[in-house]
Amino acid sequence: MGVLTNTPLVDLPAQYDTMRAEIDRALAEVVESQRFVLGPAVEAFEEAVAERVGVRHAVGCANGTDAIWLVLRALGLGRSDEVIVPAFTFFGTAGAVWNAGLRPVFCDVDAETFNLDADTVRACWSDRTRVVLPVHLFGQMAPMAELLELAHERGARVVEDAAQALGAWQRTPGGETAFAGASGTAGTVSFFPTKNLGGFGDGGLIVTDDDALARRLRRLRTHGGVSGGRYDAVGVNSRLDALQAAVLHAKLPRLTGWTEARRTNAAIYDEMLAGISGVLRPAVRSGNFHTYHQYTIRARARDRLRSHLRQRGLETGLYYPRPLHLQPCFAELGYRPGDLPVAEAACGEVVSLPVFPELGAERAKRVARAIRDFYRAG
Ligand SMILES: Cc1ncc(COP(=O)(O)O)c(C=O)c1O
Repeated sequence: MGVLTNTPLVDLPAQYDTMRAEIDRALAEVVESQRFVLGPAVEAFEEAVAERVGVRHAVGCANGTDAIWLVLRALGLGRSDEVIVPAFTFFGTAGAVWNAGLRPVFCDVDAETFNLDADTVRACWSDRTRVVLPVHLFGQMAPMAELLELAHERGARVVEDAAQALGAWQRTPGGETAFAGASGTAGTVSFFPTKNLGGFGDGGLIVTDDDALARRLRRLRTHGGVSGGRYDAVGVNSRLDALQAAVLHAKLPRLTGWTEARRTNAAIYDEMLAGISGVLRPAVRSGNFHTYHQYTIRARARDRLRSHLRQRGLETGLYYPRPLHLQPCFAELGYRPGDLPVAEAACGEVVSLPVFPELGAERAKRVARAIRDFYRAG
């Protein structure tokens, strides 16, 4: 066996190395222009994302959490209106709901995909439900057709948290391709550096086909101002930085190839981890194009498995260790352990394996072999 080098969970320096000149040129152009806030670099990137997702508008903002907050504010909901969110997701999804003055209603998830579905959402419905906020977790879309049908029947909106799923898509019942973010009232994206399309800092964006909503979002991200010094609503300062837009725009043409590389790594894991008792591989629902932001398995003796891998220089991630309904900051909502059993069990079993595009087949195989060895040794 050769010398073992460390295998990180993501390797951003490796990605930068593959396109240093293009990114440096894009950054230099913004520096030359001295147009740092909104302006042409941001507009060009917004247009490129809108085209890629297949919607009329893309509105850049400071991060993916603000993107959710901005949409909820722009919908003009009332205080303590309810928003159904998964209990198993990144904290920011629920934090944005809370900070928008709304009440998060935590919903259990599908045990195999970790996503919301119509059954779990129906169980959380009340006469104050105004929005269903599915998260396309780990790069696979939640079942949009059934969620949209349920929400439309009951007069609520669907806002897609596509923070982890730019480029993911799904076949609609009519046989069309719906990209993550494109079928709800709006979809939100994060460009946190480790995302499949990551900036050199924070960044976010909202996609929507709704012209009036897009106009409100553009105002709300600049304090709520209209023009001539007039403010109709109190917004925030949440703009996509032009330097970030330039980096992201330079990277955007690579996203398809990077996604393919992630899918190749995932296919190696799928094959090599098949049949290991103690490991549940990620399920992909029919008609879904999974972009593997994370390749997350459920593993028996998860914490021991992680140390076994760590000792061999193989890093893993833990998304997410604690369900949102049991976070101390939401104690006043009155949830108890046992309320959302699937989300709670998932937190004790999940582990994310390195799946980043530059990983390569050899390192993916080494991770898979180390997992096999762990369970073989009992
Ligand atoms: C599912 C999900 N929602 C929201 C966010 C928030 O995005 P950001 O970190 O850009 O605020 C993230 C990313 O971190 C995320 O993974």
